[in-house]
Amino acid sequence: MSASPVSEPVLDVQDLRVRLRTPRGPADVVNGISYTVGRGETVAVVGESGSGKSVSVLALMGLLPDGVATVSGAARLDGEDLLTMRPDRLREVRGPGIGMVFQDPMTSLNPVLTVGRQLVEGIRAHADVGKAAARERAAELLAEVGLPDPGKALDRYPHELSGGMRQRVMIAIALSSSPALLIADEATTALDVTVQAQIIELVERLQREHGTGVVWITHDLGVVAGIADRVLVMYGGRCVEDGTVDDVLEHPAHPYTRGLLGALPDLAEPRADGSVPDLATVPGTPPAPTDLPAGCVFWPRCPVRADPRCETEQPPLAVLGAGGGGLPHRAATWCTEEAR
Ligand SMILES: Nc1ncnc2c1ncn2[C@@H]1O[C@H](COP(=O)(O)OP(=O)(O)OP(=O)(O)O)[C@@H](O)[C@H]1O
Ligand code: SF4
Ligand SMILES: [Mg+2]
Repeated sequence: MSASPVSEPVLDVQDLRVRLRTPRGPADVVNGISYTVGRGETVAVVGESGSGKSVSVLALMGLLPDGVATVSGAARLDGEDLLTMRPDRLREVRGPGIGMVFQDPMTSLNPVLTVGRQLVEGIRAHADVGKAAARERAAELLAEVGLPDPGKALDRYPHELSGGMRQRVMIAIALSSSPALLIADEATTALDVTVQAQIIELVERLQREHGTGVVWITHDLGVVAGIADRVLVMYGGRCVEDGTVDDVLEHPAHPYTRGLLGALPDLAEPRADGSVPDLATVPGTPPAPTDLPAGCVFWPRCPVRADPRCETEQPPLAVLGAGGGGLPHRAATWCTEEAR
């Protein structure tokens, strides 16, 4: 977590929309999300399964299947729009400029190159170092992500490693080029808590030393509280609430966020053991992106809907008071005083 995010953004996403062609018709998976990630800042993206978190970041990277996805809006990385970039330029930028860690490590590891080779390439893309020094740094990085016997692991191919080891290798590769932006999609979910803490520490160091901006997608509220400066809550492909981590976790305004946090007694019973609830406590199911409701996207599940506009009009993101640290706290709902 950075102490004080600065205003010049590394990433500036404006009105991002993704429509996918599916056998059941067009699916509106991402419906106009806007956010920025400042230098050294971490933005956590949360929301139930299917809310469009992964698709929203795959769209930024140009990694959605051609002919299936229609992407619009803008996503500027250090001022350059990723969405209109030529494919060769995008490949160039994606390598050293953006580190990516996805749910499935095999999607971003190269199966025909050894772990060492992939790491050395990343390190040399960023720093003017010889092969031997880069290999030494590669082994250090593997040790830093908690991989046992890093020297040996350098000569292994991805398929020779266990799932947990592959995950850690992928994180090491993503960090190896000290990227301007790191996108982590459930990057540490499968790892045990000690390794997870080690990796979070490593990411924070990278942020301090290189000002890396981070987009961290997770279901784990403990991780959000520990790593995020700001939180963006997605539902039905929309941002329903965003703000500083303190504003969103301590003063959630949108009924969906309150449900996720177990803060709305009607929606979720607090756990007897006092543990932090998982982000899956709202009764009912999210809407299918092929069949989004008119009006507020949450209304079919909303326990407090009272406004006649809920079922007909989409509430805009309204600023709720000043927000912490001068950053706005916003929610898309008709049901708070400030948002009316
Ligand atoms: N290639 C695809 N073709 C058609 N539909 C897709 C495709 N990829 C994703 N979807 C649909 O888009 C919606 C959003 O998916 P996405 O993977 O972004 O969700 P998510 O928020 O990342 O969920 P999770 O928390 O489970 O990872 C889902 O309804 C999913 O079924
Ligand atoms: S706008 Fe209406 S339906 Fe949507 S969250 Fe607020 S009260 Fe519920
Ligand atoms: Mg996902």
